[in-house]
Amino acid sequence: MTASSSADTSVGRYTFDNATREAAQQVRLLAEILDEHTADVLIQEGVTTGWRCLDLGAGAGTVTAWLAEQVSPTGRVVAIDADPRHIRSHDLVEVRAADVTTIDLGDGVYDLVHARLLFMHLPQRRQLLRRAVAALAPSGVLVISDWDCTRLDEMFCDGPPGLAEAFLAFQQALVGIATANGADAGWARELPLAMRRAGLTDVRARLHTETWDGGTAGCLLHASNSRQMQDALYRAGVTRAQLDILREGMSDPHTLAWSYPMVTAVGRRADN
Ligand SMILES: C[S@@+](CC[C@H](N)C(=O)[O-])C[C@H]1O[C@@H](n2cnc3c(N)ncnc32)[C@H](O)[C@@H]1O
Repeated sequence: MTASSSADTSVGRYTFDNATREAAQQVRLLAEILDEHTADVLIQEGVTTGWRCLDLGAGAGTVTAWLAEQVSPTGRVVAIDADPRHIRSHDLVEVRAADVTTIDLGDGVYDLVHARLLFMHLPQRRQLLRRAVAALAPSGVLVISDWDCTRLDEMFCDGPPGLAEAFLAFQQALVGIATANGADAGWARELPLAMRRAGLTDVRARLHTETWDGGTAGCLLHASNSRQMQDALYRAGVTRAQLDILREGMSDPHTLAWSYPMVTAVGRRADN
């Protein structure tokens, strides 16, 4: 998988589709898997009452809603998503249905800009990074989390016969499809340096990896993604038998796999 080889200006297409039935489950599972980690990071960054926050590519809107509770009663949260159908309304939340690569994010506005599993999908990720930095108020904090999808052959640990091969075939095909759509499987590892080069100070990053048992949210996410992307996976050469083995294996309690490693990087806009 090449790292960040896609040009910033190339036209990409988000691989998944919030309008599908599977996507409703996908964004719920992402929230179940990741919200605790995200909340830990955001608490450490000091999010509190009165903050003005921007949640880019908000998905299920669970981080948006959590932020609204933290910044209440005087703060506000703007959530932007190309298809915000899964985001629940809240008094302090303004939902914008828009493309983050083209919408005006504002200048010097937010105490926090947050994005999870968005930048890795977008070929315009470096321009968006600069615009996200510009949207921060002085001392504002940018928090970006993305999965490193370059070590697919290290993820599978244990499961029924045939699952290791089916799992790897599925993962490689899925990442191949996303890459063809403009995603960068290795972007997460570049995040800290990209954030520093975008002018942020005090840039720090951490890696969050865990194991996922069959039948739990992480493994169910793989099965859900395999259904959402079924036709494209067949076109990429994954067989029906492999998808059957994968889906059964992802529900089998004996299955054990590593998660994708999540890089969460944080940086601050200088005071002046
Ligand atoms: C993988 S989901 C992640 C959702 C959420 N941030 C999370 O981590 O649970 C990516 C989200 O970004 C949105 N998205 C993708 N490309 C976008 C774009 N160009 N502009 C706005 N939203 C976009 C999708 O609609 C989807 O809701």
